Amino acid sequence: MADYILVGFMGAGKTTISQQLAMELALDYHDVDQLITEEIMMSISSYFKTVGEEKFRQKEHQTLTDLLSQPGILSTGGGIVLREDNRELLKASRRVVYLTAKPSVIIQRIRQDQTSIRPLASEKSEREITALFKSREALYKEVATWTVETSNLTPAEVVTEIMRLGGNLS
Ligand code: S3P
Repeated sequence: MADYILVGFMGAGKTTISQQLAMELALDYHDVDQLITEEIMMSISSYFKTVGEEKFRQKEHQTLTDLLSQPGILSTGGGIVLREDNRELLKASRRVVYLTAKPSVIIQRIRQDQTSIRPLASEKSEREITALFKSREALYKEVATWTVETSNLTPAEVVTEIMRLGGNLS
């Protein structure tokens, strides 16, 4: 069973924080998007274009189901909460951390991130991204054990806060 699961919108810092948390706790790190990318052997952006979002969501659900049984830190994609069956799986899990930030911070992080092209953000205006973020907020909160507001925190501070919440700090 995963020790910590990180959820949140694109640009919330899930990948960075998951990797650092895994290092800090000497645990394995798993990433739903990364495993999908390895399986499909193309970028998520290309997959969206080739087979469509619905097929991606099916694959995402299967990958989540598989990875939830693995111990370690699990990082998820921003749309993981869209499906009700995924939300039920997350709600049945322990230590689900919702990483969030102000929309302006999220947008800045998405724009600065050169490593991933996000099909649901790359062609959207700031207003559209903010609207998408707002439309999902309640879903992240629904599955979260804890929420961490990261706008004014460094990655190291976020990791410490998660460890405090999870009882890893004495
Ligand atoms: C998505 C977020 C992405 C990726 C896909 C869809 C979304 O993950 O799963 O592009 O629907 O928000 P990140 O949150 O890691 O960018």
